[in-house]
Amino acid sequence: MKELELLKQEVENCKRCNLYKTRTNIVFGDGNPEAKLMLVGEAPGYYEDKKGLPFVGSAGKLLDTLLGEIGLSRNKVYIANVLKCRPPNNRDPKIDEIERCSPYLFAQISYISPKIIITLGNHSTRLLTEIDIGITKVHGRVFKKGEKIVMPTFHPAACLYHPEWLKLLREDLSKIPSLLSECNL
Ligand code: URA
Repeated sequence: MKELELLKQEVENCKRCNLYKTRTNIVFGDGNPEAKLMLVGEAPGYYEDKKGLPFVGSAGKLLDTLLGEIGLSRNKVYIANVLKCRPPNNRDPKIDEIERCSPYLFAQISYISPKIIITLGNHSTRLLTEIDIGITKVHGRVFKKGEKIVMPTFHPAACLYHPEWLKLLREDLSKIPSLLSECNL
């Protein structure tokens, strides 16, 4: 899609925050720009920064497995992050970084126009639901945002170390097929 390609070029030249100084590559997004389902993570990690693609490390492998369990794969969804550049040592995104970078995510959402957005973890959940409740309380709830549905769930990276959250992540994601078929009505 031309608009997304132009936006990607803009992000490649972005210096809105200091993260451009330490990035190897921007991580714009990956998947199907026509997808009805979009997943939004937090920020690139080490491997994502090296490859320029989202969720290619161990959290990404887990995400691929979980998507596979509900009959989905990367070419059927679109995956992006709140931040397009890796924070050094994978620290949490800063408020000003989110403020400067999130217009890119909002533009991606408007070009892709997904029906359902799954927010992975606290940062994307706060940004896209505009409510400030921790993920352990809010996960699995379905929010209507205009024409779209936003459903927060756990970040797969956190679930690598918390098997009890992995169970909940899997349960939340299992709602996706019926949400998608409702959207097709
Ligand atoms: N964690 C994220 O939030 N995004 C990635 O792309 C990789 C790990």
